Amino acid sequence: MPFTANRAFKESPRLITSAAGIHLFEPSGRPILDGSSGLFCVPAGHCRPEIATAVSEQLQKLDYTTPFQFSHPGGFELSRKIASLTPAGLDRIFFANSGSESVETALKMALAYHRAKGEPSRQRIVSRELAYHGVNFGGLSVGGMVKNRQGYGTLLPGVVHMRHTQTVQRSFTQGQAEEGADLADDLLRAVQLYGAESIAAVIVEPIVGSVGILVPPQGYLQRLREIADQHGILLIFDEVITGFGRTGCPFAADAFDVRPDVMTMAKALTNGSMPMGAVAASTSIYDTITSAAPEGTIEFFHGYTYSGHPVVAAAALATLNIFEKDGLYDRAAALVAPFQDAVAELASLPLVTDIRAYGLLAGIDLAIDGQFGRRGFAALKALFEAGLMVRVTNDTIILAPPFVAEASDVAQMVDIVRSVVSRL
Ligand SMILES: Cc1ncc(COP(=O)(O)O)c(C=O)c1O
Repeated sequence: MPFTANRAFKESPRLITSAAGIHLFEPSGRPILDGSSGLFCVPAGHCRPEIATAVSEQLQKLDYTTPFQFSHPGGFELSRKIASLTPAGLDRIFFANSGSESVETALKMALAYHRAKGEPSRQRIVSRELAYHGVNFGGLSVGGMVKNRQGYGTLLPGVVHMRHTQTVQRSFTQGQAEEGADLADDLLRAVQLYGAESIAAVIVEPIVGSVGILVPPQGYLQRLREIADQHGILLIFDEVITGFGRTGCPFAADAFDVRPDVMTMAKALTNGSMPMGAVAASTSIYDTITSAAPEGTIEFFHGYTYSGHPVVAAAALATLNIFEKDGLYDRAAALVAPFQDAVAELASLPLVTDIRAYGLLAGIDLAIDGQFGRRGFAALKALFEAGLMVRVTNDTIILAPPFVAEASDVAQMVDIVRSVVSRL
């Protein structure tokens, strides 16, 4: 089982057999509130009939066609739809099947771009400590979560990690900290140490998700953009969690008003119903890569058997239609204040050592109980017993409610956290 205490699970399984709206159901029929939108991927609520219908119809019409040298109209329709949501100029879309594959795709795109531009020496990637960019070798190499990396050898060469932006002094800061933009100067230090001509890209999650919601200090992402521009380095935002409304805006790039050159996305794109990832790149990256190859030849030697799969594309189109029809970006934005106000009240619990929140994301740190992760795992199990599913990373509880939740649902989720954590 992925990222699971296998032996403990098999002794005491937590099985889910159905779901609807903001609830999951155990085989007994007991409802569990979905406090993390699955793994941040079910903002529109579970088992949406619109998606089921679109998938079923597509399966009966065109189940599959190869994406190599052939395609189908749904893939292009979905690309246009995504491009209408991404920041201006980021309108070239490439499909993958997960967040991890989207990251690999983005990294390869950055290398291919510089090579096509006549700067093949740009091969280093700058990333950040505590980052999570998925589990494949590229993403693992640029990632910064030690347990994810330590079992797998030396990983890719040429990766430089900047410092992360979290400090104890910033505990319980609401929203973006005022101090800390200067940490982006670590990119400048990499330039000074290795030379800009060796650096292809810098990749960051605009809000670090999997490690427990680290919000960028004010001006930090702007400063990264500035340094990247000055030195010809591509800026990649990994928006696998933050994409599609989690910040109250379509993308974190909008929320923080910084336009990257490449952006990854996945998760909410199909409302969790089907595996899909995508990468949005600027027109100039697309043009540079394609025009470097002779006419009639393959320009980007990369792709997956299931890139832009017709059935998955249908699920994604249905999802993005739900976003529009139900005004989910606005609903998410309206839920931010009640959510954050409720979460902030957990600060009075003696076991809570920090809370960080932005949009509909909150990380609640619990005091370590002798061994790293022990209290977090105890919290996950006790919360589930109490009827709430959350994501727990080490000793941090992450809340990320579905956008279709009401303020009263969010209050109930936080109440469960309060009563469970006070008993831990
Ligand atoms: C920022 C980020 N990038 C990449 C990934 C990997 O996505 P997947 O698990 O779909 O491969 C995740 C997953 O949580 C993520 O949060």
